[in-house]
Amino acid sequence: MQGGGAHRIESQHKKGKLTARERLHFLLDEGSFQEIGMLVTHRSVDFGMEKEKYPGDGVVTGYGTVNGRLVYVFSQDFTVFGGSLSETHAEKICKVMDLALKNGAPFVGLNDSGGARIQEGVVSLGGYADIFYRNTMASGVIPQISAIMGPCAGGAVYSPAITDFILMVEHTSYMFVTGPNVVKTVTHEEVTSEELGGAHTHATKSGVTHFACANEIAAIQHIKQLLSYMPQNCEDKAPSLHYETGNETRPELNSLLPPAPSTPYDIREVIDHVIDKDSFLEVHKDFAENLVVGFARLAGRSIGIVANQPAFLAGVLDIHSSTKGARFVRFCDCFNIPLLVFEDVPGFLPGTDQEWNAIITNGAKLLYAFCEATVPRVTVITRKAYGGAYDVMNSKHIGADMNFAWPSAEIAVMGAKGAAEIIFKREIGKADNHEAKWLEMEQLYSDTFANPYRAAERGFIDEVIEPAETRVKLIQAFKMLENKVVNNPRKKHGNIPL
Ligand code: HXC
Repeated sequence: MQGGGAHRIESQHKKGKLTARERLHFLLDEGSFQEIGMLVTHRSVDFGMEKEKYPGDGVVTGYGTVNGRLVYVFSQDFTVFGGSLSETHAEKICKVMDLALKNGAPFVGLNDSGGARIQEGVVSLGGYADIFYRNTMASGVIPQISAIMGPCAGGAVYSPAITDFILMVEHTSYMFVTGPNVVKTVTHEEVTSEELGGAHTHATKSGVTHFACANEIAAIQHIKQLLSYMPQNCEDKAPSLHYETGNETRPELNSLLPPAPSTPYDIREVIDHVIDKDSFLEVHKDFAENLVVGFARLAGRSIGIVANQPAFLAGVLDIHSSTKGARFVRFCDCFNIPLLVFEDVPGFLPGTDQEWNAIITNGAKLLYAFCEATVPRVTVITRKAYGGAYDVMNSKHIGADMNFAWPSAEIAVMGAKGAAEIIFKREIGKADNHEAKWLEMEQLYSDTFANPYRAAERGFIDEVIEPAETRVKLIQAFKMLENKVVNNPRKKHGNIPL
C-alpha cells in the first residue's frame, strides 16, 4: 500500500503528482475497486535486484466502477523503480486487459513510468509488445483510454497511441519517442521536455493528446465524463439518459448567422443551441480548430458531432482537420454513437504546403471514414457546402441518412465570384465595364446555385428547415434512425488511406 516507501511518496507529492492509489481513489466509485495481483513481485536477479522487491511491482491493477459502470484499470506507481515496466508489471497489465476484452468493458490506463525496466533488458521490451498487441486486438471492441500523468518515453508512448483517447496533465506529464538529450545529440536542437512533448505541445501542435488538463483531478474528471458518452463495448448501444420532451424550438438560431456570407461566426454557438444544455464535451479542442468535434447529448442520447468552424480559417478542410475528423468519426462508428454533422465549408485549403504533405491522402481519410460509417448519420448545412468538401462532409451520396439545409445554405462547386470569373471569362472580357459584368454574372451564378433548392430538387437535401426548428428535426430524425442496420460488404478489413 505504501509503494516505494514514504519518502518517495513525499517526493511524488512535492512534484504536484498524486500516487497511483490516490488516482484510482478519485477515478473509481467509492469502495468499488477490487485489486488483482497485489502481491506480484519481479523475477529479476541481475544487478542485485533479487534483494529489492516491492509487492505489486510498480503497478496497481484491477477493476471497479465509474458512475456504476464496470471498468478495468491499471495505475503505474512511480515510487517503485520509477513506475518502470518489468516483465511481471507487463503481465499484470495484460491480465486486466484480457479480462476487459473477454467481459466487454472499457479499459483505462493511468501512465506514470520511466519506460522499460532498464535492469531487465529484453523481457521488459517483450512486455511492452505484449501490451501493444492487446491494445490492437481490443481496438474497436472496447473503449480504451490513456491518461498520461508523468513521463512517458520511448516505446511506452505507443500503447497510449493505439488507444482511443489520450489525456495529458499540464506541466507534470510528457510524451516523446526520444527525449531532449537524444534530440540534442542527433539533430543539435536544444529543447526542453515540456516544449518537446508536454501537454500543450501535444494538444496544439501534434494532436497526439485529445485533452490537456490543468491538473490530475481535472484529468480524472475528464475520463469519467468521456466514459459517460460511451457504450461498454461495440455490441452495446450508446448510453441514453432519461429525457422529458418540452418546447424544443430554438428561435435564437434564426438570427445567429451574420448577414454577409463571408463573415465568420462560432459554430459552437449553433451546437450549444441544438444539443441538450451544457452537454458538449469537445475533443481535440486546441488542435486543427477549423473542425470542431466532440460528444454531446440530444434528448438524452449520446451523439458525436463533427462541425466545420467558420471562425477559424473560414472552416476550410486541411490535413490536420481531416485526420482529426476521420479518427473521431471512426471512434463513433466503432461504438455505435450516432453522428451529427454541421457543415459550413468553403472547400479544401490550397497551397504547396498542403499538397506536398499529402492533403490528397489525408483528406481521403475523412471521406473514407464517413463512407464506411454505419451508425445513424445526419447533416445540417448551415451555409457553404462547396466542392469536394460538400461530398466529404457526410453528404447523402456517401451514406448519410438525413440531410437538412438552412435557407442560407449555398451548395455549389465553388463560390459565386470565382465561378463567374471562370465560366463567364469571355463575356466579362468583352464587356465595356468588366467589374459591372463580373458582378452581374456573379449574381446570376449565385441566384442559380448559392441556395439549397437545387440540391433539394434532386433529393440530396431531404428538407430545407427554419433554423429554429433544427433541434426538433434532429430529435425526430435520430429517433427514426434508432434501429438502423447497415452491413458493409464482408471483408478482412478495409484499407483506409494512411
Ligand atoms: C528502472 C528506473 C527507470 C527505468 C527511473 N527509474 N526510470 N528504474 N528502469 N527505466 C528509477 C530511478 O532509478 C529512481 O530510483 C526512480 O526510478 C525515480 O527516478 P528519478 O530519475 O530519480 O526521477 P526523475 O528525476 O523524476 O526522472 C524521471 C525520468 C528518469 C525522467 C523518468 O528517471 C529517466 O530518464 N529514466 C529513464 C528513462 C528511459 O530512458 N527509459 C527507457 C526508455 S526506452 P530510486 O531508487 O532512486 O527511487 C523504453 C523502451 C520501450 O522504454 C520499448 C517498447 C517498444
